[in-house]
This record gives sequence, structure tokens and C-alpha cells, in this order.
Amino acid sequence: MTSHKKRILTGDRPTGPLHLGHYVGTLKNRVRLQDEYDCFFIIADLHTLTTAANYEKTKGLNDRARGLVLDYLSVGIDPSKSVIYQQSKVPEVTYLSTIFSNLVTVPRADRLPTLKDVMNDLHIDAPSVGLLNYPILQAADILMVKANLVPVGKDQQSHIEITREIARDFNKGFKEIFPIPDALIGEGGTLIGTDGQAKMSKSIGNCIYLSDDEETVNKKVKGMYTDPTRIKPTDPGHIEGNPVFIYHDAFNDDKDEVADLKDRYIKGQVGDVEVKTKLALALNKFLDPIRARRAKYEGNTDLLNQIIFEGSEKARTEASKTLEEVLTVMGIK
Ligand code: TRP
Repeated sequence: MTSHKKRILTGDRPTGPLHLGHYVGTLKNRVRLQDEYDCFFIIADLHTLTTAANYEKTKGLNDRARGLVLDYLSVGIDPSKSVIYQQSKVPEVTYLSTIFSNLVTVPRADRLPTLKDVMNDLHIDAPSVGLLNYPILQAADILMVKANLVPVGKDQQSHIEITREIARDFNKGFKEIFPIPDALIGEGGTLIGTDGQAKMSKSIGNCIYLSDDEETVNKKVKGMYTDPTRIKPTDPGHIEGNPVFIYHDAFNDDKDEVADLKDRYIKGQVGDVEVKTKLALALNKFLDPIRARRAKYEGNTDLLNQIIFEGSEKARTEASKTLEEVLTVMGIK
């Protein structure tokens, strides 16, 4: 890759299908960024081991990696523009991670807010060394390709901060070879779930997935939480914080229709059925091109494997170059 575009690296752990919240929060942005930047999208399967190191959890990793790639492709991430790769297929990253682990103290790694969050969420009393090392492996992902920008959610900001520290310390201790990457915090924000109570999240079961078919979307929309203070269609309703209108705003491209529905909702002149029927139509219209792209690849395991293989080879080329350079400036090459 000889372009002079700035480089981006971001990605996800392959933990399950992506939903509309991912679309709003990051995928939409990624699709846009791939024209302007040299993009790497990582399927971070090694990171899943930090909380699930047993066969029951690891045996499905390749399937989930392909599933994630399918989600990426469906929204328009394009392997002819961007590199999509699987972390475990780039073993050089673990070598770099080992080197970087010596630049971070245990108390520093232990102080990461994300560590406390994961331990609380999963009821882990004592972190494994792998879990403590999570942000260091992530730093190796980022620095391995010498990324300039890392588009992530706010929750990942502390990992970019430690990556910057590692890059600075390495540059200072050996030689200035790493750019100091910046986090690119998404403006999309988080999307509320269909239950209207919390952000869209697989563990809560309040999601509409990018892979949901029309009927599933219709059913989920029908069951959506709206305005609990509104008993009859003639009661004046609330728009603010109402997930049905949040989704209309995010996904219905007929802005006049949305304005009209809001107007009548506030006045008590429209029923939930009409608001929801129109929302389901809008969501299905939004999802249709995503479904069409998915259909081109779905079930074609060979093609998905090939995309992952080719992307991983490209990532490996970058990783090997960086590793050579690292070993050279360390004087051990
Ligand atoms: N930790 C990230 C997450 O859970 C996934 C990830 C792994 C990542 N390596 C990365 C994100 C490198 C950005 C850059 O969302």
C-alpha cells in the first residue's frame, strides 16, 4: 500500500451479530471513512479469549468471524478499498504485544476503567494476565499498522490513551518509529433499544439486527415501547425519548412524513399502529440494500474465507514490516 492517505484501524470482537445501534454508532462512519483513508478493520478474535478461554467458546470463532465480515460487507465496507482481517491470522501482533507489555506497569494496566467494567459485568474476581493485557494487545493492533486514527466509542478511549503512552515510550526508549494515534470518537452516539429503557444491546434483547428479515422487523416494531403515558390515540403524546420517533429520525428518509407523524402524535391525532407501521416500512426500506449486499455473500463460506485470508495477508505484510523495524531499533535483529 503506497498511498499517502492517513491510516485508520478499528474493529470489533466477533461476539455476535451487529445491530442498528452499531450502524448508527460506528458502521455508517466507517463506510464513509474508507474513501478518504487507508482503512484496516480488525476482527479481534484473540481479544475474546480474555474472558472466554475454553473450547465451548473458542470453537465457533471462525464462524463468528465470518458472520462479522458478512455484517461489514452488508453495510458497504468494501474489501477492494479496505483491509478486513482476522487478528489470529496475524501472529506478529502477539510478538509486538509481548514487547509492549514491558512498557506498561501492572498498576497502570490495572487502573483501566474498562477492566473494572468487564470484571463487574462478568463477575470476575481476579483478572487473568490476558485480560490485564487486553489494552496492550489492542495497542499492538493499532501500532502494528502505524495507524494515525482510531475511530472508537467513548468506552474505548482509555485504550487509545494507553496506546499513545506505549508509542511515546517506545519512541523515547528506542527510536521514533511510531506515529501517536488519535482516537476519533464517533458523533453517532448510542441508539436506544426497542424497549426504550437502555441502549441497544444483545445481552438485553432489545435489538434490531442488520440481518433481521422483514417479518422479524415488523414484529419487533409492533412490540416497541412508545409513550407509557398515552392510553388512547386521542391522548397527546411525547416525542422526546420515545424510541419510535428516535428511530423515525434516524432511519426514515421521508422527513415530511416524520414531521407530520410527530405533529399529530403531540396533538393526539394519530394511533401507535400508524406510527409503527410507517416505522417498520422505513426500517425495511433502510435495510433492503443491506440485505441485498448480504445475499451476495451469505452461505458462500469459501468467498468469505478468501476475503479474510487476503485481508489478513495484507495486514501481515504491514505487521512484519513494523516488527522488523521494531527489532532493528531494539538492536536485536
Ligand atoms: N476492544 C475493541 C472493542 O471491544 C475491539 C478492538 C480490538 C479494537 N482491537 C482494536 C478497536 C483496535 C479499535 C482498534 O470494541
